[in-house]
Amino acid sequence: MTNQQIPSPCFVVEEQSLLNNLKVLDMVQKASGAKIILALKGFAMYKTFPLVKPFLAGATASSLNEAKLASQEFGKEVHVYCPAYIPNEMDELIRMGNHITFNSLSQWELYKDKVKEVGIEAALRINPEYSEVTTDLYNPAVKGSRLGVRSELIGDTLPEGISGLHFHTLCENDAEVLERTLEAVEERFGHLLHQAKWVNFGGGHAITRKGYNIELLIQLIQNIKTNYNVDVILEPGSAVGWETGFLKSTVLDVVDSEGVKTLMIDSSFAAHMPDCLEMPYKPRVRGENPDGEFEYNIGGMTCLAGDFIGGFKFDKEIKAGDTIIFEDMIHYTMVKTTTFNGVNLPSIGMLKTDGSFELFKSYGYEEFISRI
Ligand SMILES: Cc1ncc(COP(=O)(O)O)c(C=O)c1O
Repeated sequence: MTNQQIPSPCFVVEEQSLLNNLKVLDMVQKASGAKIILALKGFAMYKTFPLVKPFLAGATASSLNEAKLASQEFGKEVHVYCPAYIPNEMDELIRMGNHITFNSLSQWELYKDKVKEVGIEAALRINPEYSEVTTDLYNPAVKGSRLGVRSELIGDTLPEGISGLHFHTLCENDAEVLERTLEAVEERFGHLLHQAKWVNFGGGHAITRKGYNIELLIQLIQNIKTNYNVDVILEPGSAVGWETGFLKSTVLDVVDSEGVKTLMIDSSFAAHMPDCLEMPYKPRVRGENPDGEFEYNIGGMTCLAGDFIGGFKFDKEIKAGDTIIFEDMIHYTMVKTTTFNGVNLPSIGMLKTDGSFELFKSYGYEEFISRI
């Protein structure tokens, strides 16, 4: 292995792990008859698209930029859903997609003539008013949610020109949660499903996580397909990038404050791994041991006081120059990074199945100045 060649900090995707996930998703498609498309918001590392493309039906975009990426770099089906569309982007966007989903009836009213003119498939995002996501930040069915149309607003009949329904209320959930969510969808929207040609189950399906009940997922998809005579689409992001790589960082200094030791790394939770602070969650670090005798906080290199996470234990003392590897840092990381404090973006690369490392990108002042 050529770990030495990997710069620091660097997001490193592991080719074999990515392929393993893609094979699982492909198996689900083949066994269930559903289409699986990649949610770019979670995983947009387009240098890996030559690997991803053969397995997935297309990609789904949340903006014109992502739609361009889907169309230019993925090149298969392009699905689009934005919570609200920007008027002067709409002509370009609508011509790029195969499917477009509207978040509200007013947005549909505004753009329905354009949709009919272009002849693209259109859907409404619905709010099933059911979610088992416990963190409100990630719960689209929270009271007063701005995401999706409630059933009473649509009534008995799908608006003319709408051929699909779309819901997204899962986040890293199991198939059993999907089962209960589908019950809520059927209860509130079953009559509309009968009128639709297709339904998009959104993302949040932890299909590639160990222990996920794939048989149940396949059965649920088949039930909906048969009972309502609809095509089913899934649009996971995290399931594609799940446990497919890491963020390598290096300890620059060790600060001791009142006995609390902090490893100051050349990366940042705030700028490079924001979900750790937003969710919040404690990332796994390679080599840590909950019973280890050496305990540290790990601190990012921005001046944000809260840019640190505590409670990492190791069997040996960690010193400046040592490598710290954060596991599972491929989905929802690269797509969320910032240059806050002027910190560089981590490089991006791939550890190939043959053990070699390929550097895709590295960043400097140009990327910083271009964003401000
Ligand atoms: C509408 C929609 N579809 C798909 C996804 C992808 O979800 P995940 O990456 O959890 O599979 C998201 C994530 O926020 C989303 O909002």
